[in-house]
Amino acid sequence: MSGHLELRTPHTPFGVAVNAAGHHLYEGILTLDGLPEPAALGDYHHIVAWLASPIFDTIVALGPVANGTQSLGEIGLNKFMIIITAEERLDAPEWEGRLLLRASSPSSRMSPPDMQEFMLGAMGTEPGDAGIPGAAHAHMPTTAAAPWPHPPMLPGLTMFPALMALDPPAATPFLPGAATDPATLPLARPRDILRLGDGDVVDLEAGLVRRRIHSRDHIMYGFNGQYPGPLLHVPEAATITVNFTNSIPWPTTIHWHGLRLDNASDGVPGVTQDPVEPGETFRYTVHFKDPGVYWYHPHHREDILKDLGLYGNMLVEPREPDYYAPADREEFLMLDDFLMAGDAPMPFGTERSTHAFMGRFGNLFLVNGEPDYELEVTAGEVVRLYLTNVSNTRTFNLSFEGAAGRGDAGAAPQHPRIKVVGTDVGAFEREEWVESIVLSPAERYIVHVRFDEPGEYRLLNRIQGIDHLGGTFFPETDTMGVVRVAAARPADAETFGAPASAGAPAMAATPASLAFDTLRTNLPAAREIALYRDQFDLPIDRELTFTLETTGIPYIVQRLMRFDSAYFHPVEWSGTMPMMNWNSSSQEVRWIVRDPATGAENMDIEWEFEVGDIVRIRLHNERRSFHAMQHPFHIHGQRFLVLARNGVPNENLAWKDTVLLPAGTTTDILLEITNPGRWMAHCHISEHLEAGMRMLFTVNP
Ligand code: C2O
Ligand code: CU
Repeated sequence: MSGHLELRTPHTPFGVAVNAAGHHLYEGILTLDGLPEPAALGDYHHIVAWLASPIFDTIVALGPVANGTQSLGEIGLNKFMIIITAEERLDAPEWEGRLLLRASSPSSRMSPPDMQEFMLGAMGTEPGDAGIPGAAHAHMPTTAAAPWPHPPMLPGLTMFPALMALDPPAATPFLPGAATDPATLPLARPRDILRLGDGDVVDLEAGLVRRRIHSRDHIMYGFNGQYPGPLLHVPEAATITVNFTNSIPWPTTIHWHGLRLDNASDGVPGVTQDPVEPGETFRYTVHFKDPGVYWYHPHHREDILKDLGLYGNMLVEPREPDYYAPADREEFLMLDDFLMAGDAPMPFGTERSTHAFMGRFGNLFLVNGEPDYELEVTAGEVVRLYLTNVSNTRTFNLSFEGAAGRGDAGAAPQHPRIKVVGTDVGAFEREEWVESIVLSPAERYIVHVRFDEPGEYRLLNRIQGIDHLGGTFFPETDTMGVVRVAAARPADAETFGAPASAGAPAMAATPASLAFDTLRTNLPAAREIALYRDQFDLPIDRELTFTLETTGIPYIVQRLMRFDSAYFHPVEWSGTMPMMNWNSSSQEVRWIVRDPATGAENMDIEWEFEVGDIVRIRLHNERRSFHAMQHPFHIHGQRFLVLARNGVPNENLAWKDTVLLPAGTTTDILLEITNPGRWMAHCHISEHLEAGMRMLFTVNP
């Protein structure tokens, strides 16, 4: 007998399916062949499938199975086995009969490195390098400025001594305002909301600001002395003028992420404009064609300039009044993680970016630039959250968790319901309930949340990290902020649903609150997308492969990363290789986007399209590379639909400008070419962009 198990990606409105705890979800599709009658194997009547963790602390009966193909339902364990046994009875809590077949998840291939690796690690040498730790790494700049601090380690993670002795990356450390006394700078202010109309003019100035984080002052960057930059609130189809002044010591530009605006205002240095030098100005004409939530950020050394605070949201108010289901209030959350080395920010690489492998994961979680984000709402209110991931590399998995607010100690944690209504460039065809919200860098999601019970809810980022030296997963929970939910005034509450009984929650009974329980189909969005449906199944027009190349990386790093290639998680959720990652710069690591049809790579790719083209593109994120990793792929100036992941059609579409490509997966998109000009497409992990992963396409009018 034989069998195989396919791990199919279940439907999700996000780039990857995980539960609130960050466990990846799969539908197990089991195919069996050559099974005999159970009685032929002994005193058995049934063939049964079981789901088990590798150390059998979890065993779940999946029910009887037979020859042929069948679904085993949803699987959500980090490492697991599927076991097929012959059983006498169907209701046994664990298998009692004969073991027939066993399948292991790819993640079970992770294991600790062997003793030889540990020895090499302890010695820190490569044959022939004269015993100098990290001597293979010969790219140190000759003029050493202020020394690099050690990158912070995640508590509880083991590190090889040889890794701890790695040389710093091949770059001079940079922090802003080294010669400036923070006290001479004004304290940055939280952002203003600028309500603008068609034809309005706005001034934006990038400059140095003083930011107070956990009662210490740091010099960072900001737009108009604010963090984040001002929120531009505009009606659909408006055009505004932005007079930009560069008052930071770097050349820079502003890119209006996701907007289908004029190519000349797209803000890509060397492609659509020259960089704006320090002290210079540039005038952008910003057109808002589509409803949705967008953001602006520099497109030069984004790994530094955006990370230091140069980012802001734009809300395009839909023309259609009921475009989204009703909500009682709106909040904008720009999600970030900033890397601190002790009390001070970890320096950046001056000549080139550091953290070129996995990107710069931070250890200080920020919402709208604040480490202690707080929101106050009333029970029963529907809050529309516009979420934007502005981090350099981190993919978030966000959920809310609260203790029941009515003092019943020991009550189960409360999870308010989350409804997804929109993403990058507008609404989904239909609303969906989700347990958590997954956003990769530059993606936006629009969700509605109703907190039914008064109390305190934490906004959590929950993921499963990988301890690469232990070969194990471990849960990580970070608190991004707190939502305080007040009881509604009795007058507002009494009309809600069932008559108020003792102890029943006092919930506001607004029209939005009453409408919240129903999942809507968004007719304008669905009708528009339906116009493209006859294009979905046409042959693929173009392909891209995502991979990487390395040169001159230290021997021990090479050995460990090679070992680690036994298994790549679909998403690297956390920076659990801090030394190796920090040490890598864009001098040793080259991330590649390749056109397999021509072999052209990165900026040598220059596709050509005509306005009106509708292009099906297949994106392969290659697993067989030195270090496979997810890439949030962003296309400038156009919009696209995600048609399928790993061949499974997407059943709920929305227009997007950034799509998460998990490691080892294939994603099909339908790119609508509407906007002439010379545009860029690239990975939105800032360090991958700096390390080469970008390409061009020209749209002819
Ligand atoms: Cu958000 Cu090319 O960028
Ligand atoms: Cu990438």
